[in-house]
Amino acid sequence: MATLGVNIDHVATIRQARKTIEPDPVWAAALAELGGADVITVHLREDRRHIQDRDVRVLRETVQVKLNLEMAAEPSITEIACALRPPQVTLVPERREEVTTEGGLDVAGNIDRVKACIDQLHQAGVEVSLFIDPDERQIEVSRLLNVAAVELHTGAYADAAVGPAQQRELEKLEQAGRFAIDSGLILHLGHGLTYRNVIPVARIPGACELNIGHSIVARAVMVGFQEAVREMKLLIQRASSAQ
Ligand code: PXP
Repeated sequence: MATLGVNIDHVATIRQARKTIEPDPVWAAALAELGGADVITVHLREDRRHIQDRDVRVLRETVQVKLNLEMAAEPSITEIACALRPPQVTLVPERREEVTTEGGLDVAGNIDRVKACIDQLHQAGVEVSLFIDPDERQIEVSRLLNVAAVELHTGAYADAAVGPAQQRELEKLEQAGRFAIDSGLILHLGHGLTYRNVIPVARIPGACELNIGHSIVARAVMVGFQEAVREMKLLIQRASSAQ
């Protein structure tokens, strides 16, 4: 069964709207764990628009499940990651103007920069996952860079119209997932996953970790964080038990 990574960036986004101390993503992480989260994910962006350095420091001490730090392959952030040594870093592309992470990381087009970052993280004992599009060339280069995992971008699947278009995107994820696993990589997936579209992705053979943020935080506003995570976890459990 795939594990559930809960991305709590949006909790920090609400706090930063007023530059105050609440809601605290550290509290959200604790509630997410109580709801069944297997991984807590945060993205420390260069512009610090939501998660702050303090959040990552405190989460590093308090999170009892796996902490997954998303970051760009940039020297200043790499330095922070190497000092904090979270169990897992996911390297993502980052553009200041974007609302959220848009495409996957172009590993093939930025080998030297990405490799320098991976090497530093590996030296610090941090496991690395690369957030990439479901594309064999990107997977092949990821394998050559010796990372443990790839996270396939599920955005195109999430954005596709329900029906044949979505089915085609699902098949691309399945095929790329198979290629990643055959290449010896651990398979993660994420972006744009919701309570409505998660089940087929949770059923992709070998899917090991799903990272979900927006949909869970949106539901949490209505039913509370612990309950929102519990409901998502139940769907993932159901997806694997009904196979
Ligand atoms: N995975 C990665 C690498 C991401 O950058 C994000 C968004 O921060 C997610 C998963 C979660 O996406 P969403 O918020 O759409 O669930």
